[in-house]
Amino acid sequence: MSIKSLDHICIAVNNIEDTTAIFRDVLGLEMSAVQEIPEQGIRLAFFDLGNAKIELIEPLDESSHLRKYLNKKGPGLHHIALEVDNINKSLSGLKSNDVRLIDETPRTGAHGKKIAFIHPSNSTGTLIELCE
Ligand code: CO
Repeated sequence: MSIKSLDHICIAVNNIEDTTAIFRDVLGLEMSAVQEIPEQGIRLAFFDLGNAKIELIEPLDESSHLRKYLNKKGPGLHHIALEVDNINKSLSGLKSNDVRLIDETPRTGAHGKKIAFIHPSNSTGTLIELCE
């Protein structure tokens, strides 16, 4: 498996627009357009750092799994995303090493990228996303 780079760090928030006060106005980062991903029950936006991004995710509605997550854990670091050359090859490599996966096959994430999540129990509690 070959990891190319850190693609993004994702922070779960209650309201994306509320974060512009710190990320845009104080840190001076530019926010992308907000995108809705109804299949995952989220809205998201990115702040581009050049060689990586900060991703913000917000629940689309009260039935979103992310709403339950926020109610339990509160806003904060949600996952880190690593870019790989070949996500299918990476997933089969992980499976052959008995790594527990959330996604056995890739799904479509933001910007039409292929993504898959590795279960946080394998990685000291940090949820890891692979993206291609
Ligand atoms: Co992500």
